[in-house]
Parts: sequence; C-alpha cells; structure tokens
Amino acid sequence: RTRRPPAECRHDIDAFTPGLLALYESLKPSEEHMSKQKQLVDSLAKSVSKEWPNAQMHLYGSCANSFGTSHSDVDVCLEMEIGTEGAVEVLLRLADVLRTDGFENVEAITGARVPIVRMSDPGSGFSCDICINNLLAVANTKLLKDYAQIDQRLPQLAFLVKHWAKQRAVNETYRGTLSSYAYVLMCISFLQQREPKILPCLQAMEPTYALTVDGTECAYFDKIDQLQGFGADNKASIAELLWGFFHYWASQHHYKRDVISVRLGKTISKQEKSWTTRVGNDRHLMCIEDPFEIGHDLGRVVDRQTIRILREEMERAAAVLQYDDDPCVTLFEPY
Ligand code: CTP
Ligand code: MG
Repeated sequence: RTRRPPAECRHDIDAFTPGLLALYESLKPSEEHMSKQKQLVDSLAKSVSKEWPNAQMHLYGSCANSFGTSHSDVDVCLEMEIGTEGAVEVLLRLADVLRTDGFENVEAITGARVPIVRMSDPGSGFSCDICINNLLAVANTKLLKDYAQIDQRLPQLAFLVKHWAKQRAVNETYRGTLSSYAYVLMCISFLQQREPKILPCLQAMEPTYALTVDGTECAYFDKIDQLQGFGADNKASIAELLWGFFHYWASQHHYKRDVISVRLGKTISKQEKSWTTRVGNDRHLMCIEDPFEIGHDLGRVVDRQTIRILREEMERAAAVLQYDDDPCVTLFEPY
C-alpha cells in the first residue's frame, strides 16, 4: 500500500463489471427469503394487535428501503399512543407478549439511543428489532427507497459497499465503525456529485411529500417516475463507480473540513454546522449528516482509532480495484 493510487482508474476497469454485477445479483434476497420475512411480519402483527389493537406497524431499514440482503435483519416500528406509560414500559410489556407467543431470544434493549425489543423467529431464524414511534426512521427509509428507484447503479453500488463493509468488519457501530444506513447515505452523496450527476438532490426540489415528526420537517420530491433516466448521460460502469467511491474516501474527502450532505447534494463545511469541536461523545472525525435530523452526525461513533482503520480499509479497497488481478475476490476477502 505504499503506492499512492493515481486519480484516474485503470483503463481496463470495466472488465470487472460483469463479476461485480454477478455478485450483486447473488446478494439480493431470494423469493424464499422475502416470503419468510412476510410470515414473520404477519405473526408479529397478530401478537401485537391482541395487546394493542390500534397500533400501526411499519417496516423500516433494509427490509423496506430496498437495500436489504439475505443476511439483513427485519426492522419494525410500532406507531401507537403511549399515554402515561413510557416507551420503555411498553417495550417491556411487548417482550413479555412475544415470549408468551413463542418468539425466541426476546430481549428488551432499553438503554440504547433508540430503545428496542430484539427477538428471533423460530420459523425463519430471522432476527427482528422492534422500536416504538421512531417515525423519522420510517421517513428516511422511504427516502432511501425512492433514491434507489432513480438509477439502478445506486442499489448496485450500495450492495457492494455494504458487503465489503461487512466482510472487512467496518460495519459495526458498537465498535466505532459505520452503520449500513451511513454507507447507503455515502453512496447516495457520491452519486449526487458525479459529473454528469447520476442522482438528483430530492430535498432541494419542490416537495411532493411532507411529514412532520416531532417538529422535524421531512419533505422532498417523491415523484420518482418523473426522474427515470435522470443519470443516463453519465455512462460510468459499476466497476468505475466502486473504484471512484473508495478513491474518494481514501484520498479525496477532506476529513478535517467537510461534512457530506445528501440533503444538499454536496459537501458543506463542519464550520457551518458547528461540528468543529467535540461535544460529549460526538467527535465529528468523519461527518455524515442525517438527511432529516440534520443535527445528527452518523459518523459520531467514529473515534481516533477507528477513523484510521476506516481510512486504511478505503485505501486498501481503492488499491485492490486499481492493481489487483482478481479484485472481485480480493476486495471482499474476510478481514
Ligand atoms: N437508522 C437511523 N439512524 C441511525 C441508524 C439507523 O435512522 N443512526 C434507521 C434508518 O432508517 C435505517 C434503519 O434504522 O434504515 C436500520 O439501520 P441499519 O441497521 O444501519 O441499516 P439496515 O439498512 O437495516 O442494514 P442491514 O442490512 O445491515 O440490516
Ligand atoms: Mg437492519
């Protein structure tokens, strides 16, 4: 890794596009997977409606944003009035109900930023996280899903990046690396900034969808059918884009100065966001702005040690795509 990757990718990079697309196809969840997922959701809905007949169930995260693989868990949000009883009490009661109904490994995790009940379904073996009234997650799930429908190079790039991150052990927020959600935002931001653009900035357009959640306005243009072919002038292949993504994070991103913002379709300075000094545990070493909760930095989990690991992995990935004889294998070698 002593050779610094040049700013241009190898001229024969497109030779790797078929291999990468085959891998992408193999990562997509199967029909069987989808139907098992539906069964889990149906039996969960039954359990919930007995106790909370007015609760509405929303799927969010990768089972609903179209970035789910066959390894992804199922994320569920219950929308309900919780009255005087707090969300934590409701979750504890939910955990009891689920245990009684035969779900396995039921565990209420109430100390987290977003309290959840985690459990697994004995039928499918799937793991499922349930939260209450986290409607911002439901809104950002729709945003990601809408972006995914504009240009298929987004799902392709994001599946490959997520797979790389899991294989290389840099998709572990509890250890100071990034969430899948953060990686998808990084991919969207990257494609918004290609020349010509591959993705538009939906939040900068006339809103056709708006929802206010706890005082946070979530509004953007969601008439995706009007945006078909948006990125067609940019002919970049998936191999070139994957290299470009890693090259950007390995040697072009200005970590000390910039924040990536899907909301604005460009980078902005940390200064503008007052993300220049450490506040509490938020170090702001690698800044990824949440599209709706704009005070929320998805890179806040990254510390001095893990930023080094992340950057080394980005450099390795760019170098593998640049020089390796068989990058489709080497890139995804388990760490
Ligand atoms: N989420 C969020 N803020 C975060 C992390 C996650 O709002 N800091 C929400 C997003 O709606 C995201 C969902 O939680 O889509 C699930 O997050 P995550 O598990 O990171 O992503 P998945 O897309 O579910 O990925 P995986 O396939 O790894 O399960
Ligand atoms: Mg998930």
